[in-house]
Amino acid sequence: MKKLTSNQLRTRWTEFFAERGHAVIPSASLIPENDPTVLFTTAGMHPLVPYLLGEKHPAGVRLCDVQKCVRTGDIDEVGDASHCTFFEMLGNWSLGDYFKQEMIGWSWKFLTEELGIDPQLLSVSVFAGDDDCPRDEESANLWAQCGIPKERIFFLPKKNNWWGPAGVTGPCGPDTEMFIDTGKPACSADCSPACDCGKYLEIWNDVFMQYNKTADGKFEPLKQKNVDTGMGLERTLAILQGVKTVYETDVFQPIIACIESLSGKKYGADEETTRAIRIIADHMRTSVFILGDERGVTPGNVDQGYILRRLIRRAIRYAKQLGMNSGDLAQVCSTVVDVYRDAYPELSAGREKILEEINREEERFEKALTNGIREFEKLCGYLVGDTVSGKAAFKLYDTYGFPIEMTVELAKEKGLKVNVADFDKAFAEHQAKSHAGAEQKFKGGLADNSEATARLHTATHLMHRALKTVLNDENVNQKGSNITEERLRFDFTFGRPMTPEEVQEVERLVNEAIAADVPVVCEEMTVDEAKAQGAVGLFASKYGEKVKVYTMGKFSKEICGGPHAARTGELGHFKILKEQSSSAGVRRIKAILE
Ligand code: ALA
Repeated sequence: MKKLTSNQLRTRWTEFFAERGHAVIPSASLIPENDPTVLFTTAGMHPLVPYLLGEKHPAGVRLCDVQKCVRTGDIDEVGDASHCTFFEMLGNWSLGDYFKQEMIGWSWKFLTEELGIDPQLLSVSVFAGDDDCPRDEESANLWAQCGIPKERIFFLPKKNNWWGPAGVTGPCGPDTEMFIDTGKPACSADCSPACDCGKYLEIWNDVFMQYNKTADGKFEPLKQKNVDTGMGLERTLAILQGVKTVYETDVFQPIIACIESLSGKKYGADEETTRAIRIIADHMRTSVFILGDERGVTPGNVDQGYILRRLIRRAIRYAKQLGMNSGDLAQVCSTVVDVYRDAYPELSAGREKILEEINREEERFEKALTNGIREFEKLCGYLVGDTVSGKAAFKLYDTYGFPIEMTVELAKEKGLKVNVADFDKAFAEHQAKSHAGAEQKFKGGLADNSEATARLHTATHLMHRALKTVLNDENVNQKGSNITEERLRFDFTFGRPMTPEEVQEVERLVNEAIAADVPVVCEEMTVDEAKAQGAVGLFASKYGEKVKVYTMGKFSKEICGGPHAARTGELGHFKILKEQSSSAGVRRIKAILE
């Protein structure tokens, strides 16, 4: 096994695939573009969905990258040995190019030669087959040819060996997964990689993406057969560095050392301390990446801003538990920025803003806590008996962000109890409601390529141009775009509400461009060429060497992945429904085509 650092592993990955004809593309933003179905980028394939569905990628048909990912389904589980809210995914893709034979050969070579993993420690699983898709004998044979004995090739059902879609609809397929034997004894005679007893640790997943799951649950063959793979960077580092958890790898160690020195507590001293340190380390790392993203978000009450707020406040709570002072978390964040100095320079560039936002949120939370304590005192004054009701405790949580542990503690100081069971019930109901909300977000399916969304996407470009013209302000820039089949939503930088006349003028210009019925022309060029031609777009590192530029007559020229309508005339009538504030200095427009 080669003891690689995180920087070395990233480089080995991209070099290995670059040597095999892959373009190395930069990590996309953590905030998905034009995708209303999820809050964060959750896998390397996520920003590539349009290309897996058949759009042409400007960098070619073989791609690889290291993608920033956030998964927030298990925030409350963080603190154990394995859950993290942020991680990096090493990935490579074939967009209708190579398939199983090349991929399995390369997987074997990368694991055994590049990473030096003992072949004896490797097991694999392949798809066992069902009514939707046949048994994957081909992959099993390819693994056998690499030298994996039959007893370490497991055929498993869809539950284990199928990946995607990332939302409700979209590209998916059978996969083959690779596992390291951790050395634990088998838990039973039929222990397999499907078992979570800890013997088998997944290291890499090769998905053979050849189906599109439709809204009615059918699996349609895709136009092209793709490969989509994902290897978790942190988990692989733990294996290579010979440590038990990701928290002991080189990406986390400096962060943990910083928390130890600020708190005077030791990681590993006892379970409670270790858990608190992990929570702070994980949540601050994720917060830094969200705040420092090129489409950075600040703490708020909805969507990504709300998740960020939860992460920061949960970290504050545990920092207090460890005896850390106000302002200490900003130092932890500064260490996170340092750890990623080479891999993610955008964090260093945004350091000041990141630290400022963390401190501001800490101040806000402290104020909320002060108000919450006042409310708590009032409540105690009215209390009959010796128990604070679950409902009152939930109100403190919901209104003041008051953690239940703190309510219990304060109650104890007064010789009171809290009905925690009732609190838990209220909390679970609230959770169920917000999960229902999250599921709603998935309803439209992931990054669907329907004609309706393509038309709205084209309208977004026209509107962006019209806004720049009408508001006559070179600082009018896109901050975010979110398109469903029904409407577009567009956030842009502008310091005041638009007047009704300005709104009308933007509508008029867009409808004029639609009436002109010009073709939507797509060209590929380098970022520098695009810039020279005056194309609008984020020129940040997220773009690879070559980009697509969409031009609509003289109206608009913008860097974008597509897809778009073929002509502006297909759009129909454009109408702005609402123009409102989104956050400080940012306006939000909702508009439709009718
Ligand atoms: N998309 C696959 C995953 O996330 C590779 O595991």
